[in-house]
Amino acid sequence: MSKIPVWIDCDPGVDDAAAIILAADRKELNILGISTVAGNVPLSLTTANALKLGDLVGQAYPVYAGADRPLLRPYHDGRDFHGAEGFGSADLPVSLRQAEEEKAWEGLYAAAKANPGTLELVTMGPLTNIAIALETYPDLPKLVHRILMMGGSVTRGNRTPCAEYNIFADPEAAQAVFRSGIPIVMCGLEVTEQAYILPEEWAALEDSFSEKTRFFHKASTHILEMNLENGHSGFCIHDAVPIFYLVHPELFEGETAGVFVETQSDLTLGKTVTDLYSDRQFEEKNAFVVLKIDREAFLLALLHALEKED
Ligand code: RIB
Ligand code: CA
Repeated sequence: MSKIPVWIDCDPGVDDAAAIILAADRKELNILGISTVAGNVPLSLTTANALKLGDLVGQAYPVYAGADRPLLRPYHDGRDFHGAEGFGSADLPVSLRQAEEEKAWEGLYAAAKANPGTLELVTMGPLTNIAIALETYPDLPKLVHRILMMGGSVTRGNRTPCAEYNIFADPEAAQAVFRSGIPIVMCGLEVTEQAYILPEEWAALEDSFSEKTRFFHKASTHILEMNLENGHSGFCIHDAVPIFYLVHPELFEGETAGVFVETQSDLTLGKTVTDLYSDRQFEEKNAFVVLKIDREAFLLALLHALEKED
């Protein structure tokens, strides 16, 4: 069976780390490259962290640094959840590898050209790199098969009362992506907040012999506490959801919808407006909005990836 060509754009980040560990364990996937963007922590750290994660999973994925700030607005980090360096209270050895010379959008475009119409683009951070790629390469939408995005929400927010962080961080970039014509699988908060690890499931990881598991356990200590304080059942491992969707779409439910981004109002800036449940519908149905996940199957797959010795 031929492997699925995949490009990951991310801002590692604790749940980005879980997503990359899961992706590395999936034989169905061929991870062609990892691009980084300023998000949870500044670009220099997301880039260093992506290199460290490749070493952790024993894969020398080429890493391409991208935008160090949003297209137009000030940069807002996520250090309150992910810690100063991006991996909570954990860390990994500094990689001896370097990021590629080419910029994120250059690497992404080259991968798309080499896999015309089949490249699966998984985004797990602010969408600045993707917006720059769309602006720079007008033929990109013809080359990318789908964008599987961790981002947005139908009814809720985690950065404001109505906006999810990845969209809020660069709303103009997100709007460009939703208007690009590339089919989007939107893994928003409705489904990613179901993808949690319970405190007791997390606690059981502490004495694992696996370096990946011990790293994940330590890295997620603070973010688990923050999620519990916000009323969630455990640590919501947002970014691993689009990776799991890629390999097991049958374990999800969702609906096709039109989705576009608020970029004008201060009150609702960064809100993904969907026409789900509305009498008035958008003309364009540009997204499949994922709404339900088989949490147990998801967690089993992640635990397998964490425990597997490379
Ligand atoms: O809202 C969750 C998203 O914001 C995740 O991608 C997390 O890593 C942060 O970037
Ligand atoms: Ca992320």
